[in-house]
Amino acid sequence: MIGTTTTPPAVTAALTRVDEAHYRGTDKRAVRQTTPPSVIERHLPLLDIQRGMRVLEIGTGSGYSTALLAELTGPHGAVVSVDVEADLVTRAAGLHHRAGYTTITSLAADGYAGAPGQEPFDRLIAWTTPPHMPTAWAEQVRPGGLILAPLVCAPIAYSTAMARMTVTDDHTLGYITLHRGQYVPMTTPALDRSRYATVSRIIDGERGPSYISAPWITVTGDRALAEAVFTRVLGAPYTEPVDVGWPEIEHLKLWVVAHQPAGLTMAHRGKETMVGITTPDHAGFVALFPEPRFVADSATSPALEHMRGLLQEWKAHGRPTIDTLSVRTTPIDQGWTLALSPGQRRTE
Ligand SMILES: C[S@@+](CC[C@H](N)C(=O)[O-])C[C@H]1O[C@@H](n2cnc3c(N)ncnc32)[C@H](O)[C@@H]1O
Repeated sequence: MIGTTTTPPAVTAALTRVDEAHYRGTDKRAVRQTTPPSVIERHLPLLDIQRGMRVLEIGTGSGYSTALLAELTGPHGAVVSVDVEADLVTRAAGLHHRAGYTTITSLAADGYAGAPGQEPFDRLIAWTTPPHMPTAWAEQVRPGGLILAPLVCAPIAYSTAMARMTVTDDHTLGYITLHRGQYVPMTTPALDRSRYATVSRIIDGERGPSYISAPWITVTGDRALAEAVFTRVLGAPYTEPVDVGWPEIEHLKLWVVAHQPAGLTMAHRGKETMVGITTPDHAGFVALFPEPRFVADSATSPALEHMRGLLQEWKAHGRPTIDTLSVRTTPIDQGWTLALSPGQRRTE
C-alpha cells in the first residue's frame, strides 16, 4: 500500500509520480526483475535521500526503482544505475528517456566494483546480494554517506538481511543496523563463487532446488554424512502448528542464526524454506515459507525439542527483532563479512 503513516512524504510522492506499469512493460524477463513497490517503500526511507544527492544503484532490473531515485534526488541530483545484464540496461535507459528523466546514467557492468570513475556518491543502494560487503562500495561513498545493501549475516544459506551502514572518514564501515529483507544473489563474474558456497547438499528438482545448508556438515567435508542428513530432511514426515506468523517469523530466523546452536541448518524442500537443527540421526525445523509450522523426523525428535526450546526462549526475551541483534564486521580480501550475535547492539 502506498503512503503508510511511517513512509516519508517525499517517498510517497515519488511512488505516486512514477508509473510502475511503464517499467513493467510486456517483457516478462524484465518483469521478473522488478522489485515490488511495497518492498521498495519499506527500504527506500532507510537511506534518507535528499534532493541534489548523487546516488549509486546496483541492480537496475526494470528501471522502476531508478526512476524513484531520480524523483527523490530531483533535477540537481544524479543517479547512476548499474546492472550486469546489458539488455536490461538498454531497456531501462530507453524507458527513462521516454519518461523524460535526464539525471540518470545507466551502465552495463558488474556492480561488485561499484561504478569506478563516477564517484563520489552520497548514497548507495543494492537490490542484489553480493557474496560479502565489497570494499569498492565503501570507497565510492563520501564519508558520512549511507549504504543500504542485502548482506549475508552468517556462513549459511538464506541468512540475508538489509544492512544500513554509515561510511567513516577512512571509507570503512561505521554504524550498522539490520532490517528485514532479501534480494537475489549477485551474478559476480569477478569472483569465484565456490569460495562462498554455503550449501552442503543440493538437488535440482522439477520445481526448483531442494538443499540443506549446514555449517556443521560443511566443515567435515563428509559427503556421505551430508547425503544421509539431506535424505532425512527431505523425508521428515512430522508437522505441528507454530503460533508465529509472517513476517515475525523472519525475526525468529535471524535470532536463531545469531545464537548459532549446534547443528544449525537451513533447508529448502519443495516449496518450503526452513531453519532448524540437524544431527546424524534427527531433524527438527521451523518452516518459514510458505506457512510457518514445525517440521521434524518425529514428534519426539530431540532436534524438534531443541527448536521448541529456542522458540520459547525467543518469546521469553520479548520476541527480539532483527534490529536488536549485534553485528560484527571482519575485514577480508576485497571487503568485509558480517556476523550476528544476540547481544544488545550499541547506539549511534
Ligand atoms: C531484484 S532485481 C532489481 C530490481 C529493480 N530494483 C527494479 O525496481 O526493477 C536485481 C537486479 O540485480 C542485477 N544483478 C545481479 N548481479 C549483478 C551484478 N553483479 N552487478 C549489477 N547488477 C546485478 C540483476 O540482473 C537484476 O536486474
